[in-house]
Amino acid sequence: MSSFKKTTAAFSLTAAFTAFAAPAFADGEVNIYSYRQPELIQPLIDAFNKETGITANVLFLDKGLVERIQAEGANSPADLIMTVDISRLTEAKDGGVTQPVDNAGINEHIPAQYRDPDGNWFGLTTRARVVYASKDRVGQDKITYEELADAKWKGKICTRSGQHSYNIGLIASMIAHHGEAEAEKWLTGLKNNLAKKPDGGDRDQAKAILAGECDLALGNSYYVGLMMTNEKEPEQKDWAAAINVLFPNNDDRGAHVNVSGMALAKNAPNKENAIKFMEFLASGEAQEIYAEQVFEYPVKPGSQPSDIVKGFGEMKPDPLPLAEIAANRKKASELVDKAGYDEGPSE
Ligand SMILES: [Fe+2]
Repeated sequence: MSSFKKTTAAFSLTAAFTAFAAPAFADGEVNIYSYRQPELIQPLIDAFNKETGITANVLFLDKGLVERIQAEGANSPADLIMTVDISRLTEAKDGGVTQPVDNAGINEHIPAQYRDPDGNWFGLTTRARVVYASKDRVGQDKITYEELADAKWKGKICTRSGQHSYNIGLIASMIAHHGEAEAEKWLTGLKNNLAKKPDGGDRDQAKAILAGECDLALGNSYYVGLMMTNEKEPEQKDWAAAINVLFPNNDDRGAHVNVSGMALAKNAPNKENAIKFMEFLASGEAQEIYAEQVFEYPVKPGSQPSDIVKGFGEMKPDPLPLAEIAANRKKASELVDKAGYDEGPSE
């Protein structure tokens, strides 16, 4: 199965079926369709196998996961979907490729705000949308999202595209908290404070802070851990060293969080094993293995993130249910267009 784990979206359907066929231990398997890199979930698979003897096969896709399961239809070998972001979990549910799970053990470990009210998806780890602040040029150690629209930051803020799902999630949370009209004013204020046209990924914004192009940026918390430990591209360590992590709204509602999560596939051929794996992923043991691997926060209360992540400081999550954020995503995307956010600062 090792060659299978290295597959990508280019892998043909027929080949995937063959790889999943392995008839001898058909009852001892579970097939995961994953948007997450296989190496990130391998430690979980190994621990699960040790505990249960069940083999988990991973098909990694970088796009088209829902379409693929739809095309496979009733014969789909997919048992479990693993992905990141509420947008993709919602897309799977709305695409009709999931089925509800009502399991007391899972529900007990995963707080209600991080799961679908119908049981079609479950958050496993959270990531906060934080502010990266220049160590050299920003003196304050607290911030709010609201404040990013304040004119005192004019020309000082960098972000990736407003249409990226990470920013859509944040803007959707602003709509949920303040209403659409206030959120629009805020987004326009933030746009007017941009140092340049939105571009690149979250890590590029930290790089821009090091380069002196901006003082503040929006970014996901885990990228800081990924930059700090990046041996493949060691200059990322310098990007991380140039910034402090500020958890917005720590004195009121807390930071906007999104999740990585899981869903049971609609026609799961190994449903029982899939639910066993889901129970395992919600357990304290797996929660800490996973969180450590991806520099995220376990959703299970009492489970701890890695020491590097603890070093960022206390993270207080906004208690807003993710389902409510999902419901405001379309409006958020419309606001981004209406504000002309991706065109950058007006003057
Ligand atoms: Fe990411």
